[in-house]
Amino acid sequence: MPSEFLKVKSQLPMLGIGIGLRNEICRDIMQNEREIDFLEFVPENYSRNIVSTNWLSDYAERFCLVPHSVSLSIGSVDPLDSSILMMEREFARLFDVPWWSDHLCFSGVGGESGHDLFPLIWTEEAVKHVSERAKRVQDYVEKPFALENIPYYTRAPKGDFDEAEFITRVLEEADCGLLLDLNNLLVNSLNHNFDPFAFLDRIPLERVVQIHMAGHTKFGKRIVDTHGAALSDKVYELFDYTLKKHPQVNSVMIERDQMFPSFNELLCELRKLREIWNKHQSPIVKKDGTVSSEDRVPGVLPPKLVSEMANLDSVTHNISLEEPSREATASEDEAGNTSLGAAEEPHQLSEYQMNWFTHWKNSKGYTPDKVDNKNFRPKFARSFVGSKNMDLRAFSIYAWLRDSNLDALMQAIFPATFRLIQSKWAEILERYFYDFNPPFYSLTDCGDHFPEFLSKHYLQFTKTHPHLKELADFELTTWKVGRTHEITDLSDEVYLGNADQIKNCRPVINPEVVVREFTYPVHLMAQSNFALNAETAGKKIYIAFLPHRFSSTEVTLSDTAASLIEQTRPGKLSYSQLIASVLTPEKRQSPNEIAAMIELFQRMHESKIFISCERFRDIPVKTGWEIYYESVKDEEPHSTLMRAIGFFKESGVNAGQAIDLGSGAGRDTKFLLNAGWKVFSVDSSGESLKRLEALDESTSGSLTCCLADFVEVQLPQADLVNASLSLPFCEPDRFSDLWNNICTSLKSGGRFSGHFFGRNDDWASNSKMTFHDRKELESMFSDFVVEWLEEVEGPMPLASGGIKHGHWFEVVSRKK
Ligand SMILES: [Fe+2]
Repeated sequence: MPSEFLKVKSQLPMLGIGIGLRNEICRDIMQNEREIDFLEFVPENYSRNIVSTNWLSDYAERFCLVPHSVSLSIGSVDPLDSSILMMEREFARLFDVPWWSDHLCFSGVGGESGHDLFPLIWTEEAVKHVSERAKRVQDYVEKPFALENIPYYTRAPKGDFDEAEFITRVLEEADCGLLLDLNNLLVNSLNHNFDPFAFLDRIPLERVVQIHMAGHTKFGKRIVDTHGAALSDKVYELFDYTLKKHPQVNSVMIERDQMFPSFNELLCELRKLREIWNKHQSPIVKKDGTVSSEDRVPGVLPPKLVSEMANLDSVTHNISLEEPSREATASEDEAGNTSLGAAEEPHQLSEYQMNWFTHWKNSKGYTPDKVDNKNFRPKFARSFVGSKNMDLRAFSIYAWLRDSNLDALMQAIFPATFRLIQSKWAEILERYFYDFNPPFYSLTDCGDHFPEFLSKHYLQFTKTHPHLKELADFELTTWKVGRTHEITDLSDEVYLGNADQIKNCRPVINPEVVVREFTYPVHLMAQSNFALNAETAGKKIYIAFLPHRFSSTEVTLSDTAASLIEQTRPGKLSYSQLIASVLTPEKRQSPNEIAAMIELFQRMHESKIFISCERFRDIPVKTGWEIYYESVKDEEPHSTLMRAIGFFKESGVNAGQAIDLGSGAGRDTKFLLNAGWKVFSVDSSGESLKRLEALDESTSGSLTCCLADFVEVQLPQADLVNASLSLPFCEPDRFSDLWNNICTSLKSGGRFSGHFFGRNDDWASNSKMTFHDRKELESMFSDFVVEWLEEVEGPMPLASGGIKHGHWFEVVSRKK
C-alpha cells in the first residue's frame, strides 16, 4: 500500500538546524536567534500552567516550535493516557507545529511509571500493538507523528526480530515518521557491540523527519546517553553518513540537558551540523541569513485525514482512545496474523512488562526500619530487577540512572537542606522515595512531600536544626515558584502620584506571587555560613516569592505589606480602601502616614508584587513617566551639564556633537540644541521619544533620536556625553560594556557630565541597578581630568511624589 505518510512528508518544511529549548540556555537562544532555525520543546514541562505557556509563546513568535514528549509510553500495555494526548493536541494547535514525536518504548505498566524509557520486546505482537496505537495518536493529535529510537542498557528477552527490523516494521505498519537519534544508536552500538552504519543501511531513512544529536558519558564499562557532553566525532560521522544516503531529512537538532557548556560551544556544534547539512542539501538561508518564519509550511495533515475531518472538532470527539475490542483483534487475526491469533491474556508483551515491574512493586514490601540495617541498603537498583530472562546485571543501569537523577534533582531543589543533613542524605532519600514515588516522568514534583516528611520522620535533626522543615519549605517554594516562569510582559511601571490621584484606583496583584510566613530567617539561612542566633530565631517573618528567570526572587515583607497582599488578592479594594484597612482613623488623617502608605504601594509596584493600576472611575491614571516628564519638562537642565558647557566655553568651544543618554523629558537635549549643539539622544521610553520628536520639529535636523536601551546602542564619536541620573539604571553585569562604549565614543578633549548613585542610596539593594563608591569612580576616570566631583547625600524627591534617601555623585570630566 502506498504510504500516506511519505506523501505528507514531502510537503513538510525543511526546518534546518535546531536546539532543545531548556531553561539554562533560553536567554542565549533568544540572543542567537540568527544561528538557530527551530526549537524543540518538551510539552510536559509547560503544560500545567498558563504562565509557562505564555512564556513559550514568546519563543513561538520567533522560532518554529516542535514538540517532543516523553510520557506517552506508547509501547505500554496500559491504556493510552488521554490527558497527555489532549496536551499534545493543544500545543499542536496553539503553535501550528509541523510534527510531534515521542519514544518507541514503554515507561510504565499497571498505572505506575518507571521514569525512564524501557526497551520493548521485539516481537510481531509488539509491532501490532505499537503501530495500532501510533495510528490512533496521530489521528487524535492531527499532526504527523514520529517515533524515536531509544538507548537501552539491557536487552529484552529474545523476540522475533532484531532492533533495525523491529523499527522498520513498526514505522511501516503505523505509517508514521522516524525521529532518528544518532547518539542513541551510537550508545547502543557500543554497549551491545554492533555496527551503527550497517544499522542505518537497514532502516527506512526516507521516513526521518528529525535527527537528534547528543553527547554521552562513559561510566565503567557502560556508555550512558546523558545529554551532558559534547557531540562526539563518531556521531557527526553518523550524521554525515545518514544525509549522504538520504538528504531529504527535515531537521536536525542538539539535545543538551545537563553540564551546560558556554553557549559558544553549542553554537560551534550547530555550525558544524550546518556545514554537514549544507554539504548534502540546499542551505536553509534567507535574506538575513536565517530561516524566515513566513516561508515555513506548517504541519500538513495526511490527505486521508483532511477529507475525513471536515468538522475537526466533532470528529476528534469521536476518535476513541480506548483499546480496540477483542472482536477487532480477532478479525485482524483472521487476516493472517498467527501471533495475535494466539493472544490470550496475559500475552507475551504484557507478561514481559509486568515482569519488568514485578520486583519494583515487590520492593515496596520492605519496611522503613530496614533502612537502618547496614546489610540492607535497598538501592533503587533492586527495584528494577526483572524476569529471569533478562540481563540482570546490565539491568541495574536503569536503577542507577533513576538513583542519580533523583539525587541530583533533590540536591538542586534543597541545596541548604542537603548541607545540613548531608551525612544521612542517601538514607533519607531512600526512605523518602519509598514513601513517595514520583508519579510523573519529568520528576519535577519529586520534592513536594519532602519538608513534611523530614518533620515527621527525622525528629533527631530538629533538635539540632529546629528550622529544618522551614528551610526545606523555603527551598521548595523557591523552586516551585521559579518553575512557573517569569511573567515577562508586565505593564508599564506605575507611579502613583498623590492620595487624590489614587483614590479611585486599585492595584492588580501579580497572580504568581506566593506569600509564606516563617519563624526563622530562612532566606538568610539558605545562604551558606549563616549562623542562627537568639536574635534571629523565633521572629515572625513574611516572604513574598516571585518567579524570576527560572528561579525566584524573595522579598521580605512587613506585617502591613503582607496584610495588604492578603486583602488585595480578591481584586476589589482601591488604594484608599486598603489604606483604611491598615491605618487607624487618626492615622488616616495624617499626611505623613498617607505618604508612607503611598510609598509602600509604590515599592510593591517596583518589586512587581503589584503589576498594574486599574482605574475604576473616570479619573485618568497616567503612567509614571508621563507624570514625571510633565512635571520636569520646563525645569532647568541638570547642573552637571551646565558646568560642562561652561568649561567648554572657557576653552573657546561653543558647540559640537553631544550624546544625551537617557534623555527623558528632553530638558538637557533641549538646552544643548538651543546652545547650537548637534545632539544624539537615546532613551528606551516611547513617551520620551514623542517629546523629543516634538522638539526636533523646531531644530532643523540637529537632533537624532534613538529609541533603545542605551547599553545596546552604537554611540557616535562625540565631544560631550551627558548622562543625567541615567547610568545607575544599567544592570551591573552590563555596566562595564556601557562605560567602555562611552569612553570609546568620546573624542580626546571631550567631556563627560552626569551622575552615579552611591551605596547609601535607598535603592542600593536593587540588584538591577548599578551603584559606585568614590574609589571606583576615580578608577573609572583615570584617563580623564576630573573637573568636578561632588558627593551628595540627602532627601531626593521621587516621580511618585514621595521622597527617598538619595546618595549620588555629580561628575564633570575631560578625556585626556
Ligand atoms: Fe533523543
